[in-house]
Amino acid sequence: MTSPTTPTSPATPVVELVQAGFAYEDGPAVLSGVDFAVAEGRAIALLGRNGSGKTTLLRLLSGGLRRGSGSLLLDGAEVTYDRKGLTRLRTTVQLVVQDPDDQLFAASVGQDVSFGPMNLGLPEEEVRLRVREALEALDIVALEDRPTHLLSYGQRKRAAIAGAVAMRPRVLIMDEPTAGLDPHGQERLLDALARLRASGTTVVMATHDVDLALRWADEAAVLSPAGLRTGPVAELLGDDALLDAARLRRPWGTSVARLLRAHGLLAPDAPEPRTPEELDAWAAARPLATE
Ligand SMILES: Nc1ncnc2c1ncn2[C@@H]1O[C@H](COP(=O)(O)OP(=O)(O)OP(=O)(O)O)[C@@H](O)[C@H]1O
Ligand SMILES: [Mg+2]
Repeated sequence: MTSPTTPTSPATPVVELVQAGFAYEDGPAVLSGVDFAVAEGRAIALLGRNGSGKTTLLRLLSGGLRRGSGSLLLDGAEVTYDRKGLTRLRTTVQLVVQDPDDQLFAASVGQDVSFGPMNLGLPEEEVRLRVREALEALDIVALEDRPTHLLSYGQRKRAAIAGAVAMRPRVLIMDEPTAGLDPHGQERLLDALARLRASGTTVVMATHDVDLALRWADEAAVLSPAGLRTGPVAELLGDDALLDAARLRRPWGTSVARLLRAHGLLAPDAPEPRTPEELDAWAAARPLATE
C-alpha cells in the first residue's frame, strides 16, 4: 500500500523539448539549450519578437523540423524520427501553421477538414461526425461546400484550425491563430478553445498579443536573446526586464493593476483584472469611495 504521505510527482509532460538546439541549413543557431515542457491540460502562450524562433520552436515540437541537439520527448519517451515515431507524435500533437494557405489544399472546406481523419483510416460515419464537430466548433458549418481558395483570409484561418481540431489531438499547437481575425472571429475562436480545453485538450499558441496571452493562458513561454523563459503568465508578463528583452509591450491588465496598487486600491497579492470586464466586476464589488 502506498503511504498517504507519499508526495505525488509532477505529471510527465505530454511533449517536451530538453536542451534542444536548432539551426537552419548553413544558418546561425535559431534556438539553443531550450527546455520547454507542455503539461497536459495547460494553455500556453508563446511570445517573442519577429524572427525570435516561435514558428521554429512549434515546428520542432510537432515534428515538422528535427531538433539539432537535445531531445524531444513524448509522454516521457524520446521521439524517434522514423515513420512509427513521427506517426505517434503527429496523432498526439497537431500544428496549425501561421499562413492558412500553407495548410489548406483540398477543393472544398469539407474535403480539407475530412482529409486528416480519413487518413487515419476511420470509418466514414466517424469522419463525418468529426468534420461536423470541427466545423461547428469554428462556426464555419455554412462554409462546408465552399471552395477554399474563394474564402476570405479569416475564413481560411478558421478552416485550417478546423482541420487540426478534427484530428482530436491531445495537444493543439497554433501559430498566431488570431492574426487576421476580426474581434468577433477572435472571440469565437476563444470560445472554441475553451470548449476544447474543457474536453481535455492542451493548447499552445504563438501570439504577439500580450493582452490575449494574459487573458487566455495559464503559462507563458517568452523567447528573448537570453533564451526561452517559461512560467505563470501574470508573472512573466509583469517582468519589465523580460518584456524589454523580448520587445513586448506591457499588457493592459498589468498596467491597470500597477496603477491600482500604486493608489492602494488593490492589495499586492490580489489577482489583477485581465480584461475591462474583470475591471468592471472588481469595481462593482467595491464599496463606493463616497460611502
Ligand atoms: N526555412 C528557413 N531557412 C532559413 N532560415 C529560416 C527559415 N525559417 C526561418 N528562418 C530564420 O529563423 C529565425 C527564426 O524564425 P521564425 O520563423 O521561427 O521566427 P518567429 O518568431 O516565428 O517570427 P514571426 O513573429 O515573424 O513569425 C529567423 O531569423 C528566420 O529568418
Ligand atoms: Mg512565426
